[in-house]
Amino acid sequence: MLKNMLISAERIEQIVSTMAGEIEADLEGRDPVFICVLKGAVYFFTALTQKLRRDVVVDFIQASSYGATTESSGTVTLIKDVTVDIAGKDVYVVEDIVDTGLTLADVVALLEARHPRSVQVVALLSKPSRRKVEMAIDFLGMEIEDRFVVGYGLDFAERFRNLPEIWEFVSEMEKT
Ligand code: IMP
Ligand code: MG
Repeated sequence: MLKNMLISAERIEQIVSTMAGEIEADLEGRDPVFICVLKGAVYFFTALTQKLRRDVVVDFIQASSYGATTESSGTVTLIKDVTVDIAGKDVYVVEDIVDTGLTLADVVALLEARHPRSVQVVALLSKPSRRKVEMAIDFLGMEIEDRFVVGYGLDFAERFRNLPEIWEFVSEMEKT
């Protein structure tokens, strides 16, 4: 069940605008490809890239580590690869949330093997207390505590992605 709202739509909008400003300053002299990590990052990705006052190449990748649970399995499989050639490009990997860091570590390693000029990580949310692998996040929206969250692209068993806000989710068993 949805427990309480953590981040309002207005606050998300502010965070994304601030991040777009920081990224825009970083884009100077670069040949950027923005890669959306499906599905969770999709709302963040479209909002963010539309705020950039220059054209950028966009592409999509999908890796899976979660089943219908709130715990990472720690094994990542590639479901959909990018179609753009990233050799020599400046890659911005756009993630919804960095939890253990395992998904991102695998995605970054996979992209780095294709010899881009640079790879940077853009994440809306991070749960630093849950990290299992050290991951540098170059552009971060907000740190959150160890809570399971849904909305604005984030799901529980594929549900709640279309909520415009970010909510804390608790399973029926934990509810009090
Ligand atoms: P990691 O590999 O543990 O860092 O997990 C990364 C992925 O797990 C994210 O891209 C999300 O899709 C998913 N995830 C992690 N924490 C949450 C959460 O609180 N709500 C929804 N999805 C989450
Ligand atoms: Mg995700």
